[in-house]
Amino acid sequence: MKTEILPTAGDVARRAAHIFEAAVAAKPDLVVALPTGRTPIEMYALLAERRLAGALDLSRARAFNLDEVLLPRSTPQTFFQFMTKHAWGPLGFTPEKCDIPNGDAVDAEAECARYEAAIAAAGGLDLAILGIGTDGHIAYNLPGQTGPRTHVMTLDPATLATLGGDLQGTVRGITMGMDTIRAAPSILLLATGGSKAEALRRMRDDPPGDAWPCTLIRDHPGLTLLADAAAASQL
Ligand code: PGA
Repeated sequence: MKTEILPTAGDVARRAAHIFEAAVAAKPDLVVALPTGRTPIEMYALLAERRLAGALDLSRARAFNLDEVLLPRSTPQTFFQFMTKHAWGPLGFTPEKCDIPNGDAVDAEAECARYEAAIAAAGGLDLAILGIGTDGHIAYNLPGQTGPRTHVMTLDPATLATLGGDLQGTVRGITMGMDTIRAAPSILLLATGGSKAEALRRMRDDPPGDAWPCTLIRDHPGLTLLADAAAASQL
């Protein structure tokens, strides 16, 4: 694992945007897995600026979301809504080249199979950009709920709470699996803030296993961790 520790979250966003831009310059039809959450918002904002400046052309790239919650797409907390606001249009992706698990799917298992097949039909991921949960989750591979390929999972109360709003009860999601992600030759993991410090330490030190899903990617040869000083404080 290549680790870059940068002073601030803003530095992580700038470095991530630069790496993303370089990857697209090298391969305009890049197939990229994209995250939601607090962490990547600034990276997306910087990339949107670069697009407006004419420095970034994502029209030929393909985007696959890491995960989605199984809620109607009109629900503000869905990742469909997040990506619509922060990423797809603002970065200039071609709408037909953006895919995300369908949160309205009646048959969630069939939707997982469709999604995995769509990634394969695109030629597989070239780059996966990831966040990390305070519990070490990667995409929505939660502790005890990892799987090799795209699968259905259930949000635990802490994960549900991160979505905000008044979501209650059992909410399920669909996530790429660990092998789906690991098949990408390049993985960029973004971690900012002191709440991620334990997860990064365990990613480095704990035995690989699904108690801390982040441990399942650390031996990936193309993994780069971008962490700010607070997230790296236990490394
Ligand atoms: P966050 O989420 O960026 O909102 O901290 C990270 C994640 O769940 O992967």
